[in-house]
Amino acid sequence: MNAKPRISILFVCLGNICRSPLAEGVFRSVVTEHGRAADFMIGSAGTGAWHVGNPPDPRSIDIARRFGVDISHQRARQVEAADFNRYDLLLGMDRNNVQTLRQRAAGGTLGKIHLFLDYANDRVIDIPDPYYGGEDGFASVYQMIREASEALLSKFD
Ligand code: 4NP
Repeated sequence: MNAKPRISILFVCLGNICRSPLAEGVFRSVVTEHGRAADFMIGSAGTGAWHVGNPPDPRSIDIARRFGVDISHQRARQVEAADFNRYDLLLGMDRNNVQTLRQRAAGGTLGKIHLFLDYANDRVIDIPDPYYGGEDGFASVYQMIREASEALLSKFD
């Protein structure tokens, strides 16, 4: 039996097709590289419902694949009430996501909700929504997520 409790982390963005599926796949890859996969339960969800059931945006799939991470099997879902109890941490990609999560949080769960880069790196910086931009946006989002994922894991050493 694993004596250490698993830490559960839900990454949250607006659509759950661009940023949070990348964060889910990249953080899972980082913990696996460090031999820590068994210590974490990792998921992602969107505050909005527009893309429920859809695979990640092809631009997110492509940038992840370029760095050896396969996120093509992931499917979008919306944040649900049970997530606030089920997960230890809900990490929003930007401050709008955090605000929406706070508005929906069940009693006593506000302390689980943080901005991803603030929690990982003590930097109050949004991971910008790349949906309406070009490929460059996805490359810089990938780099931000990769660095934040390394920093996040180091919090659980
Ligand atoms: P995400 O990007 O929140 O990183 O998944 C978006 C995807 C879709 C939309 C907005 C943001 N949308 O409005 O459909």
